[in-house]
Amino acid sequence: MSDTSTPDILADIQPLKAKPKPGKLFINGEFVDAQDGKTFNTHYPATANVITQIAEAGTEDVDRAVKAARAAFSEGSPWRKMNAVDRTRCLLKLAELMRANAEELSELETLDTGKPIFESSKFDVPQAAECFEYYAGWVTKITGETIPVSKGGDAFAYTLREPIGVCGQIIPWNFPLQMLSWKVAPALACGNTVVLKPAEQTPLTALRFAELTLEAGIPPGVFNVITGGGATGAALVEHEDVDKIAFTGSVETGKSIMRAASKTLKRVSLELGGKSPNLIFADSDLETAAKYALGGIFFNQGEMCTAGSRIFVEESGYDQFMSVLTSRAQKMVAGDPLHPKTRLGSLISEEHLNNVLNYVDIGKKEGAIVTTGGERIGTKGYFMKPTVLEGVTNSMRVAQEEIFGPVASVIRFKDAEEALREANNSQFGLAASIWTRDIKKAHKLARSLKAGTVWINTISTTDNALPFGGYKDSGFGRELGKSAIDLYTETKSVWVDLN
Ligand code: NAI
Ligand code: MG
Repeated sequence: MSDTSTPDILADIQPLKAKPKPGKLFINGEFVDAQDGKTFNTHYPATANVITQIAEAGTEDVDRAVKAARAAFSEGSPWRKMNAVDRTRCLLKLAELMRANAEELSELETLDTGKPIFESSKFDVPQAAECFEYYAGWVTKITGETIPVSKGGDAFAYTLREPIGVCGQIIPWNFPLQMLSWKVAPALACGNTVVLKPAEQTPLTALRFAELTLEAGIPPGVFNVITGGGATGAALVEHEDVDKIAFTGSVETGKSIMRAASKTLKRVSLELGGKSPNLIFADSDLETAAKYALGGIFFNQGEMCTAGSRIFVEESGYDQFMSVLTSRAQKMVAGDPLHPKTRLGSLISEEHLNNVLNYVDIGKKEGAIVTTGGERIGTKGYFMKPTVLEGVTNSMRVAQEEIFGPVASVIRFKDAEEALREANNSQFGLAASIWTRDIKKAHKLARSLKAGTVWINTISTTDNALPFGGYKDSGFGRELGKSAIDLYTETKSVWVDLN
């Protein structure tokens, strides 16, 4: 591929299934304009072309959506009266509809994000459907306990798990449909109602999903979508009648959400950024470690909260590991994200691309060496070469700050003690990886690493059954698995005097 124009493997793209139409707000089961008629554009990052216009929800629209969600949650509403088996059926039907419309959803996801259609169709969409299937199974298994109490003579005590109420959910642009599924599936499984705010860059799949909720038999008002930017999200957080906010995004926005939510004591769960260490020991299968390290940092153009962006490599395995990592990074070719062969797509926006490129400059000024990449590709869209920085030390900004793009910072280490100390020397604690054949070393490190997820001899994989979330500035609350049932229910203790 030439350096002056973006990818030429476009030739044989089939006509798209997706025909994006202007996006409206989804409130109480209907698509409506914003009250003041405001709209914004959503773009295809690979060409910067406008895809369509989207309604921008103002404070009054947010209020309308919250009122709809409140009414749908009221005592005796169809949703509250629906039994657990029927709620299971709704979630399974939703998953089935997502799979039936997978091609269209994948195209919409790629159009909005610029990620390869290969990823949208093989990962994003099927995994989102699977998340609904997983939580469909939970609906009939959300139970309280009977608990022996020792005070008060003869007593019978038990707990109930109840839905929290109206949940405001704010999601980012890097995995729009998957982040929707991680939040919406458990919230609905627990019997809550939802007002979802997708990221302003990527509203299309959430709006298509909204149509599917009606087809799946989910009553109007149970699931609502308000599109818009930070101000729309802030209005949702400020709203007095929202019971819980779940957020995935930047640390800065997470902090402002927590401050705003404190006024009404909303329940809050936050999944924020990361600067995840990937520890490569010389006794590991270095070839495999390098191959996976590549996916760990360059999958989804590096726009991943769990990106293995700090690669720590033990001195004695350094050259072997780096030769595989570098040569493979050089072979990664960007292309039109809609082409099935493309494995490296476009970054989300020009602003973000410039931020990422700026970090390469910062790294150079700090003394890092650009081994490969470091540049934009072409002038159309926001493509960037997979970038490897060597000679990085852990105190450099490129090792401490989240870049959220295809930039790996490589740091050498002498022994496990040094690796652990430096790995934990970070404001973040979302994930970490360890590559070694020594099981004692691996498990000892897994205990000592301050991260919500530790992978041993693998990287960047999640499962609906396994809790996911962060230590330190990476946030709090665990999504997925049974943990998400805790996030979306209140526990009530009931005490009966039998004397
Ligand atoms: P952001 O945190 O500002 O946006 C995420 C979501 O929050 C979007 O839906 C946005 O509209 C909403 N939002 C923004 N301001 C808000 C406010 N005051 N109240 C309520 N909602 C608000 O992230 P942004 O600006 O898109 O990206 C900036 C950086 O954040 C990235 O470069 C990356 O480092 C990090 N990030 C991390 C993500 C993760 O998965 N942990 C996802 C997206 C971004
Ligand atoms: Mg922002």
